[in-house]
Amino acid sequence: MEQHRQRREKLMSKIGSGTAIFRSAPTAVMHNDVEYNFRQDSDFFYLTGFDEPEAVAVLAPHHEEHQFVLFVRPKDLAKETWSGLRSGVDLAKEKYGADEAYPINELDEKLPLYLNKADRIYYHFGRDRGFDAKILAHWQRQLKQYPKRGTGPIAIEDANMLLWPLRSIKEPEELNLMRRAVELAVEAHNLAREMAAPGRYEYEIQAEMERIFRLNGGSPAYPSIVASGENACILHYVENTRQMQAGDLLLIDAGCCYNYYNSDITRTFAVGGQMSAEQKTIYEIVLEAQKQAIAQVKSGNAYNLNHDAAVRTIVEGLMDLGLLQGDIEEIIKEEKYKPFYMHRTGHWLGLDVHDPGPYKIAEDSWHILQPGQVLTIEPGIYISPHLKPAEDQPEIPDRWQGIGVRIEDDVLVTVEGCEVLTAGVPKEL
Ligand code: GLY
Ligand code: MN
Ligand code: MN
Repeated sequence: MEQHRQRREKLMSKIGSGTAIFRSAPTAVMHNDVEYNFRQDSDFFYLTGFDEPEAVAVLAPHHEEHQFVLFVRPKDLAKETWSGLRSGVDLAKEKYGADEAYPINELDEKLPLYLNKADRIYYHFGRDRGFDAKILAHWQRQLKQYPKRGTGPIAIEDANMLLWPLRSIKEPEELNLMRRAVELAVEAHNLAREMAAPGRYEYEIQAEMERIFRLNGGSPAYPSIVASGENACILHYVENTRQMQAGDLLLIDAGCCYNYYNSDITRTFAVGGQMSAEQKTIYEIVLEAQKQAIAQVKSGNAYNLNHDAAVRTIVEGLMDLGLLQGDIEEIIKEEKYKPFYMHRTGHWLGLDVHDPGPYKIAEDSWHILQPGQVLTIEPGIYISPHLKPAEDQPEIPDRWQGIGVRIEDDVLVTVEGCEVLTAGVPKEL
């Protein structure tokens, strides 16, 4: 509770006389009347620790009595018998530290109390059209009353512009949870490498990896990708139904979610233990690209340097093989490498696998890395049999086709440089 309170304090110090509104995650239907497990919205969780649906959090630092207000599902014995205990308004105050709490069905009636003296509303549009419309309707009513009252919000600003920079720098307690998420994923990847063998199915590997997550109170951070043979050339291959053959590469991109925090690891290796000369060549280029990218992760460096380093290493490698031809600067500038490497080199990591946070801070300038930020470094080369070379570029000889390699680590920016959190899974050939 104290940790969440401190985060709200930090956010409120930026809100001034405004009011910020955050909504819990929507529920999602799996089929008919069965729902997916509920997972709280990461922004909402970060600020409140409250993990139930149908909730709204209001931060109103200018309000005389209630700076933090929660709207929650009321206690309801019959409903709780079916779908679990609810905190209700009393615990919203006692356990989650709300200055005031109301049943969610009183939102329309009570929200104006926290808007009519605010100078602006902070809210993030785009997650739920119905709720967006509700916020706009409240704002319109406030604007109508403005001439007679002389107070009220005259603008809406994106709440996340204030919140995401906070989420971007991980607190020690957050890093502990991320290290645990990493530990479980490392164990799973190391087991996967032992297990993989010709004749096994991709889903067998997936099952054993996810078993480790579940046995330790975790869960998959995202649908696990266990991609053998040319499936490795499909970036988000999640069917995991193929039977592996000797001579395949196996690309596994699987991470663990532990107490809301995520890891995200990719390794690629030979199913029978022995790579072909072509597989090895491509692997070594990706490994070198990944190392060059990691070398650019240090406090004070611009965010794009790691991607630029990975791209240059990949282009040089593919040019050496004759798979890209021409002038290196032109290939990079015109992105002629993109049929082989079509994604960026990483993303922020945290409560969300693709954690929010700044990449660019102006048209031509990139975010400067700061200690406490965690990002992935995950270059790859994908030579799909369906690959269409860029204009003026050669056709791909058969022997290269079907090779897909990605290597992904999770990297913490430190004062001295960086720490590769996921170093426990080998990546040297
Ligand atoms: N598995 C998602 C990612 O690597 O970004
Ligand atoms: Mn990944
Ligand atoms: Mn990733």
